[in-house]
Amino acid sequence: MLRVLVCVSGGGTNLQALIDGVENGRIRNAEIVRVISNNRNAYALTRADAHGIEGICVSPGDFRDRAAFYDAFLQAVDEALPDLIVLAGFLVVIPVKMIEKYRNRILNIHPSLIPSFCGTGFYGLKVHEKALERGVRVTGATVHFVDEGTDTGPILLQKAVKVEPGDTPQILQRRVMEEAEWELLAEAVDLFAQGSVVVEDGRAVIVR
Ligand code: GAR
Repeated sequence: MLRVLVCVSGGGTNLQALIDGVENGRIRNAEIVRVISNNRNAYALTRADAHGIEGICVSPGDFRDRAAFYDAFLQAVDEALPDLIVLAGFLVVIPVKMIEKYRNRILNIHPSLIPSFCGTGFYGLKVHEKALERGVRVTGATVHFVDEGTDTGPILLQKAVKVEPGDTPQILQRRVMEEAEWELLAEAVDLFAQGSVVVEDGRAVIVR
């Protein structure tokens, strides 16, 4: 069984997609062993609790400085003995030490087709605001491995989603979640759990 740790900051619909995927067999040979939130009030923690998954909060506000927060966060990560870490709407910059330790074992879901609308400052609703401002006809979602840059790691899966006339950032966000994110994330974890993903020369390759 692949031990999956999920890091969250907010509502946790992507976490829910993973929980559902494990429960309904879409994701095989994997269990979610812990959920870590940087935000005590994240609804994602309630979702974890409702499914008997340990949810813990490691909040920057509870520590004297960033280094102390990162130490506690990394300890909470290590304790879970994860084979795979999924950033499912996690809005904390991952410490370099953790990236080095878990290289090619950290996946992130981003709500655009990378390299569009990504990088510093592009998260959550802002991504969709920028996509609508630019007037793109197609957007989507990307699952990628995490490296030292922001949204620069090897791309594993992408799916396009149409922008429709009259879309607001909220409407577009919901469509991207429903049509792309939840599906892609479950598929990515399943592929990883099947041992079907390798990273070669900085690119993710799917071997089926
Ligand atoms: C999702 O749309 C996810 O792609 C995005 O935050 C949202 C979290 O929703 N992540 C980023 O923007 C990362 N750069 P959720 O808490 O309902 O899963």
